[in-house]
Amino acid sequence: RTPDRCFKIVLCGDSGVGKSSFLERFCQNTFNEKTQVTIEIGFQMKSLVIDSTVISLQIWDTAGQERFRSLPHSYFRKADGVVLLYDITCEKSFQSVTSWLVNIQEVDIDQSAVIILIGNKEDLATTQRVISTECGKRLAEDCGAFFIETSAKTGHNIFETFDYMARTLQTR
Ligand code: GTP
Ligand code: MG
Repeated sequence: RTPDRCFKIVLCGDSGVGKSSFLERFCQNTFNEKTQVTIEIGFQMKSLVIDSTVISLQIWDTAGQERFRSLPHSYFRKADGVVLLYDITCEKSFQSVTSWLVNIQEVDIDQSAVIILIGNKEDLATTQRVISTECGKRLAEDCGAFFIETSAKTGHNIFETFDYMARTLQTR
């Protein structure tokens, strides 16, 4: 079936938080312990059926490493949704969330764009967590974002993230 609606989603966040893994889990349902740093922006397409509407998501994976970060502003400007990730075991990636948000605002993201803040690597929560769920929630509230903790390794909440995104966009 041809899609009824099509939305553009951009993944962003520091290097190593798991953006490529997150996308791979959602699109291929696989996970690699060893990944390569993303140096080129690319996208994958994935369709979801929500209440008998076929929604096609074009999901862009971006480079977290500063030296590869040459994000043309249009990537964000035309985005319907942004998935901003940090790693719950990495304080620095959490601190970077604010500057990612500033970056996004600077490129005039559409005011109606849906922003989801993700605390990834939830599978490491019992042994290596440094950012509490409460801290993540509070930050998300402060910036008007929805908040979810996920694991690209186990698949926890990955589908739910895109399902929520698609449902929210569909009702706009
Ligand atoms: P850049 O491309 O440099 O921006 O990094 P990235 O955000 O795409 O990170 P990537 O997906 O390459 O993952 C970095 C490392 O974290 C890899 O070793 C992954 O296997 C690991 N990783 C990603 N997601 C998870 C997760 O949910 N749990 C655990 N335990 N490891 C993860
Ligand atoms: Mg990557």
